[in-house]
Amino acid sequence: MVATRTIARMHQAAAELRAPIPKAELHLHIEGTLEPELAFEIAARNRMSLPCADAGELRRRYRFHNLQSFLDVYYATMAVLRTEQDFADLATAYLERARSQGVRHAEIFFDPQAHSERGVGMATVVEGLWSVLGSSEQRYGISTALIACFLRDRSADAAMEALLAAMPFRDRIAAVGLDSAEVGHPPSKFVDVFDRARAEGFRCVAHAGEEGPASYIWEALDVLKVARIDHGIRCLDDPALVARLRDQQVPLTVCPLSNVRLAAVDRIEHHRLPDLIEAGLLVTVNSDDPAYFGGYIDDNYELIRNRLGIDDRQLVRLAENSFRAAFLAPQTRDGYLAELAEFSATVS
Ligand code: ADE
Ligand code: ZN
Repeated sequence: MVATRTIARMHQAAAELRAPIPKAELHLHIEGTLEPELAFEIAARNRMSLPCADAGELRRRYRFHNLQSFLDVYYATMAVLRTEQDFADLATAYLERARSQGVRHAEIFFDPQAHSERGVGMATVVEGLWSVLGSSEQRYGISTALIACFLRDRSADAAMEALLAAMPFRDRIAAVGLDSAEVGHPPSKFVDVFDRARAEGFRCVAHAGEEGPASYIWEALDVLKVARIDHGIRCLDDPALVARLRDQQVPLTVCPLSNVRLAAVDRIEHHRLPDLIEAGLLVTVNSDDPAYFGGYIDDNYELIRNRLGIDDRQLVRLAENSFRAAFLAPQTRDGYLAELAEFSATVS
């Protein structure tokens, strides 16, 4: 028993000593990085209240049994965000964490409708985030891009309204995405919005196959014509879909901790990430909503290393995939890949 504990401590010490792998984060909701302590600080200065006494109590409530039970808490907590400064503080806190986790490039989701429905407009959100993201490379050594997500459990008209509101910020928003409650809200509902977004020059991604069926992944590919699938773990239910994803090397942004915390997978040891890798898919590992799920991106890398037996060579491959799947200019991508190659040569 003592020996087991000692070995566990040695493992932990080794993990702490190891520099994190340079990587790109491609599935990260900025509102999902709102740690309870910052939520309370922002609530106090905005003279708002949260439905519990303190940050510790809020964190203890983070027990979810499915996506919706999480979304209820997520939307309620982000309601403290009201000013440009709030969004700037959120972005700063994230970048500080991301730097310590080896993130070199981050493509960051935000949910415009979750704010506009509370009277906080696109300009407040984008200007606030951009006041920090605009200099993230110089200040944190992390390049960034923004992805505006449509809430799939609202109407297609509401999504179109959000797209029109995003248009004046075209130079700051690289892509559009689709998130929120999945089941019952198939991608095809948003065909016109995505057609228009593509025509306006936005890249397109969509959450699909997190809780929803493999058919939603087909729709995201064929109807919305997305460049990446967020989550996508349910593709394994459909061999023809796996073949399509493999042949076209469509990236999947998989989020292991999230999948366990939202009960899409019953326990980490049952996560089928190894099968996705084995099938030859372009898999990336990401954090989704790290303030709610108990870990940021490198914590996800550590988790799959320790609990799924993903070895160092495979971890480097996942990091390589993250740069390949990112919306990066070729020269920038090559620079990150060279940095990763140098890192892996020094550790192997
Ligand atoms: N919004 C924030 N996190 C999400 C998730 N995991 N799935 C769908 N929508 C989300
Ligand atoms: Zn997500």
